[in-house]
Amino acid sequence: MSEHIRVLLSEEEVIARIKEMGKKISEDYNGEPVHLVSVLKGGAFITCELAKRIEVPVTLDFMSVSSYEGTTSTGKIKIVKDLDSTIDGKNVLVVEDIIDTGRTLHHLLELLKERNPKSLKLCTLLDKPDRRVVDVDVDYVGFEIPDEFVVGFGLDYAQKYRNLPYIGIVEFD
Ligand code: IMP
Ligand code: MG
Repeated sequence: MSEHIRVLLSEEEVIARIKEMGKKISEDYNGEPVHLVSVLKGGAFITCELAKRIEVPVTLDFMSVSSYEGTTSTGKIKIVKDLDSTIDGKNVLVVEDIIDTGRTLHHLLELLKERNPKSLKLCTLLDKPDRRVVDVDVDYVGFEIPDEFVVGFGLDYAQKYRNLPYIGIVEFD
């Protein structure tokens, strides 16, 4: 079976939207510093683009988590790589590539809340609201997309296609 990629959002559209998000975030934080917590691996791509467009002082850190998807699917997460520095007293903005069921982000936010940040917000490039199982408050959404499996701009299919500069839908021939 072979697959091909159909473009859903062009590189220009994605970059233009990230610029708008950066502008809005800069306005909202209003001179206060923001600490970006990038969720690896996919989130790294939007984090870099976004960080360049934020005009308040930016620091950043990376975290990697994996979901436990057992048969009962409790969706608890395991920390694969923890943050390097404390988030105590910081304005934390979690940056994700996509929110699907919401399980990963729900658990990650619970975990980060316990570390006493000054504020905790969430930003995602893509959101698939039709797929939501757990409620998550998302502060900044790049694009709401239909229930399709997408790749590119950090998102993978079996670890491939993260490097595509656009967002595409995987189609099987
Ligand atoms: P959630 O816990 O179901 O919200 O899962 C989110 C994670 O599933 C994302 O961080 C992605 O790694 C992965 N994922 C969900 N949908 C897609 C998709 O369409 N393409 C690639 N990865 C996806
Ligand atoms: Mg992810």
